[in-house]
Amino acid sequence: GAVELGPYRHYMQKEIFEQPRAIADTLEGVESITPDIFGDDAYKVFKKIDSVLILACGTSYYAGLTAKYWLEAVAGVRTDVEIASEYRYRDSVPNPNALVVTISQSGETADTLAALRHAQSQDMQHTLTICNAATSAMVRECALAYITRAGVEVGVASTKAFTTQLAALFLLTLTLAQVKGRLPEEREVAFLKEMRHLPAAITAVLALEPQIIAWAEAFARKENALFLGRGIHYPIALEGALKLKEISYIHAEAYPAGELKHGPLALVTEEMPVVTVAPADSMIEKLKSNMQEVRARGGELYVFADGDSRITSSEGVHVIRMPEHYGLLSPILHVVPLQLLAYHTALARGTDVDKPRNLAKSVTVE
Ligand code: G6P
Repeated sequence: GAVELGPYRHYMQKEIFEQPRAIADTLEGVESITPDIFGDDAYKVFKKIDSVLILACGTSYYAGLTAKYWLEAVAGVRTDVEIASEYRYRDSVPNPNALVVTISQSGETADTLAALRHAQSQDMQHTLTICNAATSAMVRECALAYITRAGVEVGVASTKAFTTQLAALFLLTLTLAQVKGRLPEEREVAFLKEMRHLPAAITAVLALEPQIIAWAEAFARKENALFLGRGIHYPIALEGALKLKEISYIHAEAYPAGELKHGPLALVTEEMPVVTVAPADSMIEKLKSNMQEVRARGGELYVFADGDSRITSSEGVHVIRMPEHYGLLSPILHVVPLQLLAYHTALARGTDVDKPRNLAKSVTVE
């Protein structure tokens, strides 16, 4: 049936605020980590595979990039992530022992389906999809599946589909870690507890909306923006830049902050807002020196820090403090303010937020 907007102005805003519920639904029924949640044969398949190959487009591709950090660090499984429209036409080296993972909100994206079929035609039969549409072609054509329960997503710019994909990919990470003997029970219990706390943690992040609205006023007057992150937050910077360009039409690029000096620093002037994803993780000190490189050229920093980052507001440095530091799951929290920033900037510019020009929700033709 029709999806109601309720108190929200746009579907995108509604969907951003639905994320606590969407994640809770996606994790519902997961009492412990067991391969069964991906399908009956999952244990047998997971025992055999020696690597992961992720195939996806758009926002789903960025979920895959985030998962690579988790899969390699926690499960110790080598992971490649490929843009589906490239992989399907590339001569790559097939590995029949890889687990091919497609990620798709719609389950009908033409390039992702073609990439899956290409892998299958190369003797790669261990397939799994993380998908938001239970009756889609993707689910029919993959041997294993995990259905995210984001619910219908109407806004062209994906939000709750992305965070639920991340939740599912973290479950996959823990499951592979367990099968590979790398998940002691205390770790399993601790991770599950953190996952169950995600809806409350996201609710606290959503309360930052008024501060983000104030930033959006400044962004609405810009034509360019740079997004920086390091490590596991680099894909989140990419997703933040994608959201901003999709709906506000501001040119935005994301860089891993260590690459600044290899090009983008040349673009930094007083006119360039630089959004920085800066939680207190192992990269924070490196990131801070990258931030100084930006300040030295007059660039204006907009920093999403957390309590332990030890970054304070000063001339040209604006800071929003995230409510808590969330360890490995931190990307799921840090993307939320970037969604809100894109949304409110687009709102201030008066664009058609839910139906941006030239873009479609589901790209079922090449
Ligand atoms: C389109 C949508 C994006 C989405 C991408 C992949 O470009 O506008 O929001 O991320 O397709 O779609 P999928 O349904 O495969 O996740």
